[in-house]
Amino acid sequence: MRILVVGGAGYIGSHMCKMLASHGHEVVVCDNLSTGHRAAVRWGNLIECSLSDVGVLAALFSKCKFDAVMHFAANSLVGESVRDPLRYYRNNVAETIGLLEIMRKHEINKFVFSSTAAVYGQPNAELIDELHPQEPINPYGRTKLIVERILADLAVAHQLRAVSLRYFNAAGADQSGMIGEAHEPETHLIPRILRMAAGEQINVGVFGTDYPTPDGTCIRDYVYVNDLCTAHLQALNFLDQNPGFHAFNLGNGRGHSVRQVIDAVEQVVGRKICIPEFDRRPGDPVILVAHSEKARHLLKWKPTLPDIHSIVESAWKWHLQPKF
Ligand code: UFG
Repeated sequence: MRILVVGGAGYIGSHMCKMLASHGHEVVVCDNLSTGHRAAVRWGNLIECSLSDVGVLAALFSKCKFDAVMHFAANSLVGESVRDPLRYYRNNVAETIGLLEIMRKHEINKFVFSSTAAVYGQPNAELIDELHPQEPINPYGRTKLIVERILADLAVAHQLRAVSLRYFNAAGADQSGMIGEAHEPETHLIPRILRMAAGEQINVGVFGTDYPTPDGTCIRDYVYVNDLCTAHLQALNFLDQNPGFHAFNLGNGRGHSVRQVIDAVEQVVGRKICIPEFDRRPGDPVILVAHSEKARHLLKWKPTLPDIHSIVESAWKWHLQPKF
């Protein structure tokens, strides 16, 4: 198949391109490189443009007949979305509408969308399944939820076939060490601790130690980046047989606290890392753990690297390489 990967220069998008290419698919990347990296585009041609570059997109869609579109491009920082919501509504919602319009014009009707656990808001259950109420508590989560609703409407009105994959905490790096997580600024826990372990000047702290959890720190469901990508491949196959809009949670169903993650990093790097305690970070839910039975059952999704130690190990390997 010929797949357009929007946001293919980013963390998860670049892993997706590598996997698609290894399965014999032709990949075209569309990315404005605002947060992605040119050097991460190694599997497929890069069209350097934003989704608002309507002329460039129109020429691309006229030239290439895509079998499906995977959409990873988005702003994804919760705190930033609270400070600058319009940027999030423009980039995550308005630009996605533009993409869907051009897909419709060119009769491309398969779409795999990167969504997030943030569409649920504060969890009301230990494990979050897809039927959990969707009440996001920040603009980032709302932008993703709005797009999901749009996709559901398009599935009815125009027979769009769409899968929304709600990632929990993406982590780790491809075992080749060629690509990995490289955000600037980096806000995510695992790469921040690893950067500190690698000797970078980075002000890492444990955000909150008085949460109602066994060790007082927040719990998350860390899921290996290539396992997320496998779910996208499976979603493409699923859409062949299943019209309509479908949403799936992607997580391992096991939570790790911030302290447990720090312990795992210490084991992997082989030394103690002193991380100070900070106040709580506003907007952090206490526990976010996925119930992913739907993906396991319908997509036949089976994570290959569910343990935190192996996930951290893969990320550490990447951190020891020269970066982009
Ligand atoms: N944390 C620290 N110190 C740090 C960085 C993070 O203690 O330096 C803690 C956070 O407070 C949180 C946990 O580590 O408890 C994980 O934080 P991340 O920033 O790595 O990830 P989030 O859980 O905040 O983000 C994830 C997804 C988002 C989604 C969000 C929903 O990556 O896409 O959950 O809450 F929006």
